[in-house]
Amino acid sequence: MLVLGFESSCDETGVALIDVPAAAAQGAPRLLAQALHSQISMHQAYGGVVPELASRDHIRRVLPLTREVLAQADVQLAAVDVIAYTQGPGLAGALLVGAGVAVAMAAALGKPTLGIHHLEGHLLSPFLSADAPEFPFVALLVSGGHTQLMRVNDVGSYEMLGETIDDAAGEAFDKSAKLLGLPYPGGPHLARLALSGDAKAFDLPRPMLRSGKPDFSFAGLKTAVLTQVKRLGEVPTEQQRADLAAATQAAIVEVLVRKSLLALKETGLKRLVVAGGVGANTMLREHLNAACGKRGIRVHYPELSLCTDNGAMIAMAAAMRLQRGMADLHNDGGFAIRPRWTLGSA
Ligand code: KG4
Ligand code: ZN
Repeated sequence: MLVLGFESSCDETGVALIDVPAAAAQGAPRLLAQALHSQISMHQAYGGVVPELASRDHIRRVLPLTREVLAQADVQLAAVDVIAYTQGPGLAGALLVGAGVAVAMAAALGKPTLGIHHLEGHLLSPFLSADAPEFPFVALLVSGGHTQLMRVNDVGSYEMLGETIDDAAGEAFDKSAKLLGLPYPGGPHLARLALSGDAKAFDLPRPMLRSGKPDFSFAGLKTAVLTQVKRLGEVPTEQQRADLAAATQAAIVEVLVRKSLLALKETGLKRLVVAGGVGANTMLREHLNAACGKRGIRVHYPELSLCTDNGAMIAMAAAMRLQRGMADLHNDGGFAIRPRWTLGSA
């Protein structure tokens, strides 16, 4: 069975094609081709994602990317069996593009559609790597909009262990980076600047580190970074900026590592899956690997290129649902996007 997947929830248009053996016992789904267009350079001038521009760009990109994917895989569109798309959460206008194209294409082909939760896509993205995890595991989901720790029993069985009460980890990276004068999205830029900095040069708070629960709060950290930026004045030296970047990254990473360990201890599980854009952070990976290695815990990551938004994770989530007979397929030409949608809710 062939599944075509669309991602268009924010500022990346992603399309992917996956070959799915009918049952899980017959083997894992196989990624045949994928294509991605990032809008980052378009939004950079505005310091963040402009929703209207995002929607228009998805419209421009989605069909050429689809043609590229089909050509790469040497597959005719008519051979596709199911069309999956990101149903939510995300920007309403952006979601509508992927959903609209998926439903229109499916109607033309007489094939069903399947709406996928964007975070489920992130959660299951490590199954696209050669070293796929086994269920159950603890998942640390760290993206631009979400920071959650979850117990994942199987596809569709997610128990929330803790989440952020304010900003997400990616937001903490992005907002701090902006204060340091770095371009959007700041996470990777801040990480690069931090390489030449001394994290001990600034004493930044680790919000809720000792709350005893796997919950997070990052708003206070951003305020502390703002205070330091003001203290440094108009023209901080390159070293001061690097030091502050290093201190910010160290604070975020320490909280994420500690809370992950807490969730692992609470559940007694020995497997951790890290997903979402912040999962690409090298320091986070190094610290998680070291802390978990000592405790006999395996850590799984998606391929680096699949940490941030992409179509492959959406097609993969659809494939895993189809293999388990858990796909809510639609044939009626109707669709409903869900800009706000909690994972695990009906
Ligand atoms: O998962 P994602 O692509 O989009 C959402 O669903 O939100 O995550 C994007 C987030 C941004 O906040 C970005 O700054 C962050 O992931 N990010 C990073 C790194 N690469 C991406 N943060 C820290 N270090 C990185 N290397
Ligand atoms: Zn995402």
